[in-house]
Amino acid sequence: MRFSKTNYLKLAVIGIAVFALAGFAWTGGRVGSPRVDNTLVGTLGDAEREAVSVAAFNEAAKVFFSARCANCHPAGDVPTQGDAMTPHSQGVTRGEDGMGVYGMRCTTCHQNENLPGEHMPPGTTIDWHMPPADQKMVFQGLTAGQLCRNFTDPNRNGGLEVKSLMDHIQKRDPLVTWAWEPGNGRSTPPMSFEQFAAKVEEWVANGAACPE
Ligand code: HEC
Ligand code: HEC
Repeated sequence: MRFSKTNYLKLAVIGIAVFALAGFAWTGGRVGSPRVDNTLVGTLGDAEREAVSVAAFNEAAKVFFSARCANCHPAGDVPTQGDAMTPHSQGVTRGEDGMGVYGMRCTTCHQNENLPGEHMPPGTTIDWHMPPADQKMVFQGLTAGQLCRNFTDPNRNGGLEVKSLMDHIQKRDPLVTWAWEPGNGRSTPPMSFEQFAAKVEEWVANGAACPE
């Protein structure tokens, strides 16, 4: 590629964007960091792409680790509840298929909508459940780097992989979008669904690099 003046200008612009993103990740900054224009991504060097990718994952991780998502993705077999992610009451457990055990099926209480009223069970258009016992898809208790490698390393993924992660988000799985309409005054993840989806796409488009 010929390096015209405009190319140098582009590189300068990209450099600033990378620094801004890295800065946001470093300060644990909130949403609203600038998106890198995809038409420029092709001109980024490997190191810059990796930095952009890592920064994007660190942003997306704030959603994965937020209570609305992580409550269904616990480390053990008990879903958690509330912003403090305390173990689910009534002795609810995962069961083989993630739908609960006999007599304590998730859908006994969780209906196809958020039931109105304090501490009533939330619900969405598909059957409420958590991942099955043989593919637990754990989010809780991991660092961003560990979660990232669970998506990218097929040998240790616990049922997660980048392609199905993308599908899950792009097809707007009702269990995912529920997090932004959780009902009963529950808090929502720290950025919009669109911003989250854009961060995940930016992470993948720049090589799906992982934080330490
Ligand atoms: C009500 C429980 C529930 C909530 C809430 C929930 N999930 Fe999940 N998640 C599941 C289940 C169950 C699966 C397994 C796939 C399936 O059966 O749909 C899953 C799978 C996933 C996967 C893996 C997809 C794959 O096939 O590799 C990702 C990524 C994911 N969830 C992200 C999220 C995010 C992000 C949020 C919050 C915005 C969230 N989940 C909220 C239950 C939940
Ligand atoms: C006996 C009734 C009952 C059963 C069975 C039940 N739940 Fe719940 N669940 C509730 C109620 C009620 C709440 C709301 C608690 C509150 O808001 O204080 C709740 C809340 C939750 C939350 C927390 C939502 C949030 O982000 O705060 C998750 C996650 C959850 N349930 C998952 C499950 C899963 C998965 C199953 C099946 C394995 C299940 N529940 C089975 C009654 C039940």
